[in-house]
Amino acid sequence: MYTLIKKTFHRVGKKLFVRNCVTSQGQTKYIKTIEDMAHPKSLPLLGTKLDLIFAGGGTKLHEYIDKRHKQLGPIFYEKLEGDTKLVFVSDPMLIKSVFLSLEGKYPAHILPEPWVLYEKFYGSKRGLFFMNGEEWLTNRRIMNKLLLREDSIKWIEEPVKNTVEKFVQYWKTEVKDGTVANLESDLYRLSTEVILSILIGTNSSLKYSAHYEELLTMLSETVKKIFQTTTKLFGLPLNLCLRLNLNVWRNFKESVDMSLLLAQKLVSEMLLKRDDNNGLVHKLLAENVSDNLIIRIVADFIIAAGDTTAYTSIWSLFLLAQNDEISHEIRTGNIGYVKNVVKESMRLYPVAPFLTRILPKNDILGDFQLPENTPIIASIYTSGRDEQYFSKAHKFLPYRWDRNDPRRKDLVNHVTSASVPFALGARSCIGRKMAMLQLTEFITQIVHNFDLKCGNVAKVSPVTSQVLVPSCPVELIISQRNK
Ligand code: HEM
Repeated sequence: MYTLIKKTFHRVGKKLFVRNCVTSQGQTKYIKTIEDMAHPKSLPLLGTKLDLIFAGGGTKLHEYIDKRHKQLGPIFYEKLEGDTKLVFVSDPMLIKSVFLSLEGKYPAHILPEPWVLYEKFYGSKRGLFFMNGEEWLTNRRIMNKLLLREDSIKWIEEPVKNTVEKFVQYWKTEVKDGTVANLESDLYRLSTEVILSILIGTNSSLKYSAHYEELLTMLSETVKKIFQTTTKLFGLPLNLCLRLNLNVWRNFKESVDMSLLLAQKLVSEMLLKRDDNNGLVHKLLAENVSDNLIIRIVADFIIAAGDTTAYTSIWSLFLLAQNDEISHEIRTGNIGYVKNVVKESMRLYPVAPFLTRILPKNDILGDFQLPENTPIIASIYTSGRDEQYFSKAHKFLPYRWDRNDPRRKDLVNHVTSASVPFALGARSCIGRKMAMLQLTEFITQIVHNFDLKCGNVAKVSPVTSQVLVPSCPVELIISQRNK
């Protein structure tokens, strides 16, 4: 966007180093360096770690960073640990600039540390999320064609709908009326079953065997365990845990080993029954993707689908259970309204509250020249709840997403790009259409079949635990409609 015309630095004011730049419109702009960016005081080696600990630790990271934005503005850097300057942005224009222009041809993100160590020490080859460079781009293009192109996923409607129907039937017979005892487990199982049904399609004999049901149960439980064990590793010195083979590390490793093993076993069985498959596996084979690569990529889909869709479903149910009028609108409104319910739930509770990119080369973000490899973090929990971008930002108002809704006139501010739960750009979520379909189908069927109430007495707030989850189990009370 900007062409640098001079490398000379000027001293402006006390500490500001700026350079002359010419924008594409021919105006001169003064560019500051990262040193000029707002930042909190930090200690050598420790960075601001103590501040975070005093603010409640890593589980409060979204609130801690939200406060920092309020204090320092929409762009600042912070050395959360050690000497690395992490640049946080919450302005939608800056977020767009990172994800739509600065991220480069092969966008790179920061991988969660436990996963980096797992890959490094046990050397398993993983799917899209872990790929880089040309390998990532080649496989991503194939997946884009199958999962993101306009109308590319019409075929998944039927398997998703059938799986959600089966789930509703399960709640009707097993939970009937009352508190859902195993909400998290039930929703992990649903997410796992949905992704498997997309992989298999509609006409496979595999799906109707007791063996499949057994693998499905084990798989959804171990995927849930990955989440639980990763949470326990939060804030610990991981290298040390690994080298001492501490229980916390062993539990994490075993849950990943087991999930990958089961996912790979299931996908291998799908490949054995390839003539009996009309789902994603069949489509990948038709694209000449090798068996090995299919196993590698789709096994990771199963793991990626688990906590993201399970917790988004929980947050949506939590909000609906406290806003009866919204359920009423769903029952009387159109499918578009349900989509808005999901968008609004994800605006308030984005399961991935921080999105990361590593700057591939020296570049300019906003007013700042940043060096190559700068880690940039989009604080979408903050942008989604900022009054500048969403009027009545803390209220659950699904109609804000419908520009034809007359009530929207009271909501002056609405910046769609301030809520990007699936990220944006070339490396955004590959499963977003599948997830949206599952979530809209799930909410539609649940609300039509049950009345919902929330039994929690104590306040439920979001905590960062890899993904954004409720601080205590959501007590969902259901009662069947039209018995
Ligand atoms: C509500 C549900 C979901 C949310 C909010 C979500 C969110 C995200 C986000 C924010 C990213 C971008 C990460 C980054 O750029 O660093 C991502 C990537 C990804 N998601 Fe999802 N996701 C969801 C469901 C799913 C599902 C159902 C799948 C299953 C296919 C999936 C598979 C993936 C994969 C494989 C990537 C990595 C893509 C790549 O690196 O090219 N996600 N997701």
